[in-house]
Amino acid sequence: MLSVADNEKLTKVGPGTPMGNLMRRYWQPVLLAREVADNDGDPIRVRILGEELVAFRDTSGRVGLISEWCPHRLTSMFLGRNEEDGLRCVYHGWKFDVTGSCVDMPNEPEEFDFKHKVKMIAYPTEEMGGVIWAYMGPAELKPVLPKFEFTQQPESHRGASKVIEECNWLQGLEGGIDSIHSSFLHRKIGEGKGIGLDGLRAEGLAGKLDVEPTDYGYRYTNSRGLPGKGQNYVRGYHFVMPHIQVRAAQLNNNGDWYKFKIAGHHWVPIDDHTTMVWNWFYSLDEALTQDEKDEEISGNGPAYVDPVTFRAAVNPRNNWLIDRDMQRKENFTGIQGVNAQDRAVQEAMGPIVNRSKEHLGQTDRAVIMTRRMLLKAVDTVADGGTPPGLGESYYAVRAIEDVLPEEDFGLDALSERMFAGAR
Ligand code: FES
Ligand SMILES: [Fe+2]
Repeated sequence: MLSVADNEKLTKVGPGTPMGNLMRRYWQPVLLAREVADNDGDPIRVRILGEELVAFRDTSGRVGLISEWCPHRLTSMFLGRNEEDGLRCVYHGWKFDVTGSCVDMPNEPEEFDFKHKVKMIAYPTEEMGGVIWAYMGPAELKPVLPKFEFTQQPESHRGASKVIEECNWLQGLEGGIDSIHSSFLHRKIGEGKGIGLDGLRAEGLAGKLDVEPTDYGYRYTNSRGLPGKGQNYVRGYHFVMPHIQVRAAQLNNNGDWYKFKIAGHHWVPIDDHTTMVWNWFYSLDEALTQDEKDEEISGNGPAYVDPVTFRAAVNPRNNWLIDRDMQRKENFTGIQGVNAQDRAVQEAMGPIVNRSKEHLGQTDRAVIMTRRMLLKAVDTVADGGTPPGLGESYYAVRAIEDVLPEEDFGLDALSERMFAGAR
């Protein structure tokens, strides 16, 4: 459990809040590159960390991320004209470049030089791994570029998608790092054809967590004994500050190795009550197949998520399309799609869950460690210090899972295989 005050501290992310200040120290994914594919293409609204912004790709190919509100009389720059290296407000014609400088002010007499006195909020961006990243913190504290291993793969070997989750970001993150839930929430039953995972994760229900802090967050394993087999199913993960999970996706449902594939999520706050869940995945062996890129099994495919608004077809207003017959005969939830199942239980808690009422057990140790780490980092930033995870150490993190003899379990069993360069 968590005190009401700490819960508030961890969940509120707007400008000037303690957690908002921590979040702004890290690069955040803001757009899929395809959303701003063309020079002088359409501007697009971006909502992140409680801020209302507009993105556009200018004539030179630079991606601007500026306030949605024109500093003149505050109409929306979303209506703006994207022309010759700047976005022009359609109300009175003020034009701003990607740095937020006003480069034209045709309605004011030149001699007043008002143009140079007006500046728009603008955040630096970088394009990497098919994703546009933004840094929204103090300019002098900008960290190294977000070179997660997936961003360094060729396009054929990687994919990324995103979907809106209708609850606070921490609920999403805590669902992601809670390994043992997948034995239940994502379980298939009977001979049904419901989408979901079964096999190993359904066999070993009680898991043992092994958690080790690192300078970017922590890494952990969940080891499940496989009844009657004399084996452990050991699954490795990383948590990278402030809201990232990296996990293995290498074994099929029978426990056979099929590809050196790694996946992860960023849970990026849109505001205090809404989250953009980023899903990314990459292969170190062969190119991803179209099926893998389409993410049908995870419930992120085109049938589940609007490719323009990123709203989910399965959401709280339609009770996540829960099908009670499917729940009796095919899978644990009656909901289709692994990530849709995740969102259902997280959204069903309400916008911000009251953590002072929980009862946490042994398998919640990763959740507890995450909260401690985040609270400490919030205080570090409030005291003028440097939070963890701003260096290059996370560039090498990757995740692995394996089926091992029963005497091998925990982090020792996977050891250096959880980092690049030690394959
Ligand atoms: S409101 Fe934008 S130029 Fe006047
Ligand atoms: Fe899940």
